[in-house]
Amino acid sequence: MTYKITAYSEDDTIELAQNLESEKFPNMVICLEGDLGSGKTVFAKAFAGALGITENITSPTFTIIKEYYGGEMTLFHMDVYRLSDVKQDIGIEEYFTKKGVCIIEWADLIEDILPKNRLDIKIKIVDENTRQIIIIPHGSKYEDLCERVL
Ligand SMILES: Nc1ncnc2c1ncn2[C@@H]1O[C@H](COP(=O)(O)OP(=O)(O)OP(=O)(O)O)[C@@H](O)[C@H]1O
Ligand SMILES: [Mg+2]
Repeated sequence: MTYKITAYSEDDTIELAQNLESEKFPNMVICLEGDLGSGKTVFAKAFAGALGITENITSPTFTIIKEYYGGEMTLFHMDVYRLSDVKQDIGIEEYFTKKGVCIIEWADLIEDILPKNRLDIKIKIVDENTRQIIIIPHGSKYEDLCERVL
């Protein structure tokens, strides 16, 4: 099953993140794909806010992984855009089994190490405020979740 959603504004993308957060579970993996400025960080920030994380969420482009505690669940926010530049093994796979939610920006760049069960979210820029969002759940847990909230 593939879900196609049109976000007509940033608020629509925020609402999507909040809806998905309401069905969070430990080891949840959310893979974000989309061009620069498509809204991946907007999504991650909204998800973090819904988790109750009060810390300011900044783009982890240069640090690759940022960990946020203090919410209902730990959030591992990753941006693997520069991963090939730093050419170091930072053990990303280990995070997929940690108790928390992983949100990965530019996940398509590390496709070979992504877990089989995960939620893929592909964001396409239509115009200044419009985004076409394609959501593909992999595995029954994610399929059920999408059925409940989308
Ligand atoms: N419907 C929308 N959904 C999300 N963001 C939107 C939307 N419409 C406009 N925007 C704007 O697009 C920008 C998205 O920026 P954001 O940093 O989230 O992109 P990104 O995908 O994380 O980029 P990067 O690849 O550089 O990390 C923001 O300035 C946001 O206000
Ligand atoms: Mg970003």
